Amino acid sequence: MCGIVGYLGKGNAQESLVDGLRRLEYRGYDSAGVAFHEGGEFSLSRETGRVENLANALRGSGSSSSLGIAHTRWATHGSVTVSNTHPHQSHDGKFVLVHNGVIENYGTLKRFLEGKGMSFASETDSEVLCNLIAYHYSELPEDEDRFIDAVRLALPKCRGAYGIAVLCLDYPDVMIGARRGSPLVVGLGEDANFIASDASAFVGRAKEAVFLNDGELAILDKGGFRITTLEGQDAQAVTHPLDQILEEVELGDFDSYMEKEIYEQPAALENTLRGRFGDDGTTAKLGGLEGHEDVLRDLDRIIFVACGTARHACMVGEYMIERLARVPVEVEHASEFRYRNSPKAGKSLVIAVSQSGETLDTLEAVREAKTKGLLTLGMTNVVGSSLARETDGGVYQRVGPEIGVASTKAFSSQVCLSAMLGLALGRMRDLSPMDGQAIVEALNGLPDLVSKVLQQGEQIRELAVKYSKAEHLLFLGRQSLYPVALEGALKLKEISYAHAEGYPAAELKHGPIALISPECPSVFVVEGNDLSSKTIANMQEVKARKGPVLAIAPENIEIPDQAADDVFRLPEAHEVIRPILANLPLQLFAYHFARLRGLDVDKPRNLAKSVTVE
Ligand code: F6R
Repeated sequence: MCGIVGYLGKGNAQESLVDGLRRLEYRGYDSAGVAFHEGGEFSLSRETGRVENLANALRGSGSSSSLGIAHTRWATHGSVTVSNTHPHQSHDGKFVLVHNGVIENYGTLKRFLEGKGMSFASETDSEVLCNLIAYHYSELPEDEDRFIDAVRLALPKCRGAYGIAVLCLDYPDVMIGARRGSPLVVGLGEDANFIASDASAFVGRAKEAVFLNDGELAILDKGGFRITTLEGQDAQAVTHPLDQILEEVELGDFDSYMEKEIYEQPAALENTLRGRFGDDGTTAKLGGLEGHEDVLRDLDRIIFVACGTARHACMVGEYMIERLARVPVEVEHASEFRYRNSPKAGKSLVIAVSQSGETLDTLEAVREAKTKGLLTLGMTNVVGSSLARETDGGVYQRVGPEIGVASTKAFSSQVCLSAMLGLALGRMRDLSPMDGQAIVEALNGLPDLVSKVLQQGEQIRELAVKYSKAEHLLFLGRQSLYPVALEGALKLKEISYAHAEGYPAAELKHGPIALISPECPSVFVVEGNDLSSKTIANMQEVKARKGPVLAIAPENIEIPDQAADDVFRLPEAHEVIRPILANLPLQLFAYHFARLRGLDVDKPRNLAKSVTVE
């Protein structure tokens, strides 16, 4: 989704801003722009397409400005054109602004401003906000707080979500940022300070970060920075060190972040697991759940809310938690839950799962759950994210920044944490110490088994070569492998643009079997238990209709020759970790399939890493 980066310092803003935009490319965007405060005026440069187009346009421009703001836009209001690209400049040329989010009442505000004689150069809601600030500024008397006051007067008039960075021509040393519903973070460096939508925009240049809360303003000037509320009271600025993040966001020897993130899963999962088991080795100990034991012991129902891949991880969690802890579990699309009249049955716990912790629908689902008085827990990868701050407790995934748009290592850690949650809840109820111990041992062995599967990456590449001409594919699995089938299909379609559908294997006969043909391969993820014979029967039904079959199956399950064209073998493993292992070849399959088509897996068309609009 859109990205913001702003620079105020002693050096040259251009290099830091373009570099910051490059680091934000992973979020997904369709145009990019920058504005510098220079020689008593603003100079703007805006281009559709890649940040590289903007960098080329700026090459040789010789800007020496030390104050600027930049943006990558993911179109919401108006098509992808230069005039809709940020930064936007106010009608009088006094302000430039970059904005993430959506101003819902921009139409009303625009009519109001048009009534004051203003005209607009773009179709965006963001230009309206820029002009609203200019309008308030024009109404205020000259004094040293006039810029800040204009921002403070304009923002409460906006309904919706915003993260902004704004500059005023009359204040050559000041940059203001503000947030409501869209993340914003201040970066503190030796020679410069930054405002950005995501700390990765300034890692390597800033040493510490301060995450803004909703309703807060960051005011940066040559003397430093301060955080205030919209009403003007000082707010607390908690600083977070940024040292280790640089290495994590560098690509190293890999061709893409997606590939890097797939292959770093053994280490990532070690981090997810580290220090999270009880001393007796029979249960999981999740610090973020402490203090809620009474509620957790006595639950009637768990509702997971999430979107996309995170929701698939929750669906695996549903099977696991019901099996281990025998608590009824529902998994809701966060976007549906937030508008439903969901009955308040007994003691319910809402668990929101989001890698970024900034997905708007998931956050709104949490807010809705809180309105209904439900306990909310978060599972997220991003420390200090909105989800982490707005829930009553929760757990961090600890897998390091996920930059590739297609979620990979985050899914594995979410499933791993769901199993740990199932274990912890199970041990508070019926689960025996022996069963608990077996699960702890299985989870501790997970990173090694993940390595073992990833070592067979070449075999998956060869399978992707064989199947990469297909335009339609089915993914099928049962029980906790059904969401894995859904995830395999999602991964393939989002990065290769081939059409892929996931189904429970037994649903095949209820409609999808009509699609089977020599041109439509089926990928079956086979269980490691007695149910596998039923899935093998489904595979034979496909083969009988001349459909090609690729099976992903544990070593201990015999697959008859006539049931599959190809079999990829997984190590035998405990049921709680099988979904994670079975998903790995599907991640690699999608990756190679897309690469063989010459596609950029890190920047799939139309997609954004973090969906901060509805
Ligand atoms: C798919 C993908 C998306 C996200 C979804 C939720 O590869 O990345 O489907 O899973 O947008 O994102 P988070 O987990 O950040 O809430």
